[in-house]
Amino acid sequence: MNVVILAAGQGKRMHSDLPKVLHRLAGRPLLAHVIDTARHLRAGRIVVVYGHGGETVREAFPERDLAWVRQSPQLGTGHALIQALPLLDRGDPTLVLYGDVPLTRVATLQALCACARGGMAVLTVTLDDPANYGRIVRGAGGAIRRIVEEKDASPEERALREVNTGILVAPTRALERWLSRLSADNAQKEYYLTDVVAMAVGDGLPVASAHPAHDWETLGVNSRAQLAQLERIHQREIASALLEAGVALADPARIDVRGSLSCGRDCSIDVNCVFEGEVVLGDRVVVGAHCVLRDLRVAAGTRILPFCHLEEADIGAGCRIGPYTRVRPGTTLAEDVHLGNFVEVKASAIAAGTKAGHLSYLGDSEIGRNVNVGAGTITCNFDGRNKWRTVIEDEVFIGSDTQLVAPVRVGRGATLGAGTTLTEDAPPGQLTFSRVRQVSKPEWARPGKKSKA
Ligand code: UD1
Ligand code: CA
Repeated sequence: MNVVILAAGQGKRMHSDLPKVLHRLAGRPLLAHVIDTARHLRAGRIVVVYGHGGETVREAFPERDLAWVRQSPQLGTGHALIQALPLLDRGDPTLVLYGDVPLTRVATLQALCACARGGMAVLTVTLDDPANYGRIVRGAGGAIRRIVEEKDASPEERALREVNTGILVAPTRALERWLSRLSADNAQKEYYLTDVVAMAVGDGLPVASAHPAHDWETLGVNSRAQLAQLERIHQREIASALLEAGVALADPARIDVRGSLSCGRDCSIDVNCVFEGEVVLGDRVVVGAHCVLRDLRVAAGTRILPFCHLEEADIGAGCRIGPYTRVRPGTTLAEDVHLGNFVEVKASAIAAGTKAGHLSYLGDSEIGRNVNVGAGTITCNFDGRNKWRTVIEDEVFIGSDTQLVAPVRVGRGATLGAGTTLTEDAPPGQLTFSRVRQVSKPEWARPGKKSKA
């Protein structure tokens, strides 16, 4: 099958410099969702008709399995499909999708293609308010006769509530024939793709119709309000699927998945969490309220407390993270690690049982097992030009408010006194500290207040 995705339209009502099909739904361009659908249908050819927004649309999709054709100027949906014809496989049928209609289900399109039986089929819905859509005109026996655009419709036709979603499938050779006969002699002076329906009927070819399971599958995006509405529908569907799969969601209306989220058994997710990219949670993982997790793996039994921002990291089993922890890319935590409030970790590997409970920055470091990182400990990893590594071996105890000026190594079992600025390696097993000796002056008196003249 060929899939042609029409995406040349302007999208004026978005009031945006970004081409409409590049606006994001669930973190990805609208067009990416439609391309995914085409791929799931195992389309032999995927052709995108672009135009408005120029090369930026095309450049956003470097994948090799896509063919692109530019429509300029944009003279209507029929004109758009004509541009794609030279790239189609004539022996296979052609399915037309819209780049700004992102939520159509694969099963719906499969049903549409099945009911076409090698001929033509259109996807239609019956709406309470059919305004702005093309209306499906059926004959006495109920067979589809033609589609009339609202602007060209008679009052009786406008009263019809079955509308054209724009999605249709047809034999490619016949399409080619019909499209060559299109004229722009209509209210909008456009070449209407919808006119091919009457041509098929004229050729004695029956036109079948299929209907989506849900009306929202055919909703398009023309404004930011519609985009926000589709986002909510999409998120509601994802939340339902998670609940169905056994994930405990505190509120299915307050979770956002912008990518893929896979959960083991008995995971629970509190309100207002955002999952981006690919997130994998093991069994019994608990995510507290207001967390943002991106490209993350979390092993079984780990608890993430509220207000954490964790990205591109691998978190072991049985860890306790947060509240208010930030984990940055390139971090791996082994099992039973504890990171507490206002702890930032970047590009570091932390071994099992280590704790950093409060107010720390651990960057470019390798930290062993059962290390205790005192409050306010900072790795000084940047000298203004280069990043350097800090190595802290197993069983080290780091007193509070310590600075480790990298590159530096703390030997196994060492203790660093509170307030140390470590500039050289600390030997294993010893107490190391750098501290100005404490002084008290018994004769000293606090200056009195200056008397006013
Ligand atoms: C079209 C249908 C209408 C249907 C409606 C569903 C026609 C003539 N009308 O309406 O029956 O009810 O969709 O939303 O087909 N596009 C191009 N090039 C163009 C014009 C449009 O690529 O020259 C693309 C747009 O980017 C969009 C899609 O085609 O993705 C539909 O265009 P739009 O203007 O929204 O549809 P209408 O013509 O209003
Ligand atoms: Ca439209």
